[in-house]
This record gives sequence, structure tokens and C-alpha cells, in this order.
Amino acid sequence: MPTKSELHTFLRTRRSIRRFKPDPVPESVIEEILATATFAPSAHNRQPWRFVVVTDLSVKARLGKAVTDKMRADMQTEGASETDIEKRVATSLRRMDEAPVVIVLCRDKNDVRADTPEEAAMGVQSTAAAGLQLLLATHAEGLGGNWICWALYAQEETCAALNLPESWEPQAFYFLGYPDEAPKIKDRKPIKEIVKWSQTSPDV
Ligand SMILES: Cc1cc2nc3c(=O)[nH]c(=O)nc-3n(C[C@H](O)[C@H](O)[C@H](O)COP(=O)(O)O)c2cc1C
Repeated sequence: MPTKSELHTFLRTRRSIRRFKPDPVPESVIEEILATATFAPSAHNRQPWRFVVVTDLSVKARLGKAVTDKMRADMQTEGASETDIEKRVATSLRRMDEAPVVIVLCRDKNDVRADTPEEAAMGVQSTAAAGLQLLLATHAEGLGGNWICWALYAQEETCAALNLPESWEPQAFYFLGYPDEAPKIKDRKPIKEIVKWSQTSPDV
């Protein structure tokens, strides 16, 4: 069992990895990562997370096209220049192409205790907790990973490209693979700036 200090170091040394070696990731490793992700906490223990594993090149290309078509349309609506749009699209396609594994994390909209905004928020929070656990399990395997928000901007397109069940709502993509970069640890805001300890008297 690692020591307390080793565990803190492990948790603090996860980095977002955006460059991968082309080496494939064995299915058994992906399964282990996903199994660990499911040990995240979830509201009412509903476990609303769902995962889609994409390694097939043609499926990855289909997903990439669907997402970047929507990205292009959104940027055109925002009035971005064609140069900026094509640069962003090309970078996004390259990044997806270079990731040996893409995992689409969804929440099952039907897996809620009640049809209220609070329960829906709990479903999203629970699913995000599984996303973090997935990245930590990736780190434990010596792989790198990156949380990608594009799914939120192209939920319908992602569902259509992957033929997902109607109730699966894409929340994020995770690009995984063996790291081909070692990014420096990014500075964290000082604890004093972000933590307020409650005082015994409200006047203090
Ligand atoms: C909700 C969420 C969305 C993110 N979306 C993206 C993204 O679309 N593209 C990207 O390169 N990184 C994305 N990231 C990764 C962050 O940029 C990264 O976690 C942050 O810069 C801190 O760096 P670190 O993960 O190496 O500690 C996202 C992270 C979170 C939690």
C-alpha cells in the first residue's frame, strides 16, 4: 500500500496530456480504468454515468467530423474568420486522430430519482466525478489523458455519430494514450485565496 505522502504526490502529479505516442492501449487496461471510474461517488448511488469507448479509426473519424462540423457552424455564427475556423477545426481533428483512445462520457438522463433541476444537476455532478476518477485511473496506469469539453457543444451530433441511446447525454470526451510529453505542473491558486474557514462568531 502506498504511503499517505505517496498518494498525495500521485494525486498532485496528474497532468492533462495532449500529445500521445501512437501505441495502442490494451483493452484490458481500458477496462481496468473504466472499472475504477465507476467507484466514484454518485447521488443516491444511481451511477448515472455511461461510457462509449472509441478506438476504431473510422468511428473516430466519423465522430471528429460530426463534432468539428458543429464547431465550424458555431464559429461562423459567432463571426470568426475562416482562417481561425479552419485552424481550430484542423487542430481538433489532429488531436482526436492522434489519441489512441477516445472515451465519451455520458449521463443517462433517465437515471434520476426525480425529474427536477436539482436531481439533473446531481446527475451531471456524479458523472463528472466519474470523469475525474477515470483520469486518475489513467494516471495510475502510466497513461496520459485529457478532459475535452467539445461534447457539450455537440451533444446531438455526438449521439448521432455514435448511434447512442436516446437518454444518453454526452458530457465530455477523454483522449487517452501513452504520453508523448511531460507538461510542467500548473500553478494552483494559493489555499488562503480560495478557502474560508468558518468563524464561531458571524461578526469576525
Ligand atoms: C470541465 C473541463 C473541461 C475541459 N476542457 C478542455 C478542452 O476542451 N480542451 C483541453 O485541452 N483541455 C480541457 N480541459 C483540461 C484543462 O485545461 C486542465 O485540466 C487545466 O488547464 C489544468 O491543467 P492540469 O489538468 O494539467 O492540472 C478541461 C478540464 C475540465 C475539468
